[in-house]
Amino acid sequence: NSCNVAIVGATGAVGETMLRILVERKFPIGNLHLLASERSAGEKIEFGAKKIVVEDLATFDPTGIDIALFSAGGSVSKEYAPKFAAAGAVVIDNSSAFRYDDDVPLVVSEVNPDAAKNRPRGIIANPNCSTMQMLVALAPIHRKVGIDRINVATYQSVSGAGRSALEELGRQTAALLGFQEPNPERFPVQIAFNLIPHIDEFQDNGYTKEEMKLVWETRKILADDSIQVNPTAVRVPVFYGHSEAVNIETREKISAAEVRKLLETAPGVEIVDEPKAGGYPTPVTHASGNDPVYVGRIRDDFSHPRAVNLWIVSDNIRKGAALNAVQLAELVLAERG
Ligand code: A2P
Repeated sequence: NSCNVAIVGATGAVGETMLRILVERKFPIGNLHLLASERSAGEKIEFGAKKIVVEDLATFDPTGIDIALFSAGGSVSKEYAPKFAAAGAVVIDNSSAFRYDDDVPLVVSEVNPDAAKNRPRGIIANPNCSTMQMLVALAPIHRKVGIDRINVATYQSVSGAGRSALEELGRQTAALLGFQEPNPERFPVQIAFNLIPHIDEFQDNGYTKEEMKLVWETRKILADDSIQVNPTAVRVPVFYGHSEAVNIETREKISAAEVRKLLETAPGVEIVDEPKAGGYPTPVTHASGNDPVYVGRIRDDFSHPRAVNLWIVSDNIRKGAALNAVQLAELVLAERG
């Protein structure tokens, strides 16, 4: 029961992790095609003991591909995902190109896996990294007591903006330590030793698109348009791992102790919550390179009768992108029996 797989954007930060996770999880790969732009066609990428040559997406024939994992940006997905789907592949798309289309399911594998089965266009959308980790932790609470409103501030690592952003943080850090100019290119202002409250484009309502993704995607994934979400998304000088300070107002009262107990058995969640030095998750000590969504700092909100605070940390490249995409591929594979 092996599957012919294509990774589109295989040379990128997410694409290379997709390949690594397929190998780690022993996904039954038949033929494997690694695709990128003309710029990297001909490069070789290691796959187990083999080296695979990167192919140019523009001239690739998708016939025979069973599953295509796309992570090469929205415009590439818009152009090529329908072509792969028309050739018979199930496309799992990490961009935001199709996420808000009614006939494209938006799926977190631990939260709404059944939604992946209904994909009239042959496309399943992978959620935004910040929404992904937040909902792995909040969905069990929503199911138990209902969530009315979510206030969230994100602390998002640079890897979410791709390989060039990782390089920019490294380069600026070294430059500034050497008393050189940081010269911002990829980010609007200096990111090293700084914080930037601006991710993706500004919208007419004053929020950024990254912030609105948390609103739109939370409602779609939980299939509940009544949930209110008030986000602030901030880029921080961290390489891997997004963190979120989350306050939830619930429909019925739930205590912090009950939330902790509920999340102890929640799929994909690991609790790290002791009120002492280091007794909480951070991107570096816990998330980076690992699969779980880590939750700590769980405490009753003393300013509100039905609210709880949580600190949610996960590797944005893994659960926030590549891991969930591979988990969706596993769901598709399981359908074939
Ligand atoms: P390439 O390396 O050839 O530019 P990241 O998000 O880390 O920047 O990675 C983006 C990924 O998307 C890379 O693999 C990149 O390939 C790929 N990509 C970008 N533009 C295109 C394009 N027009 N056609 C195919 N792949 C693309």
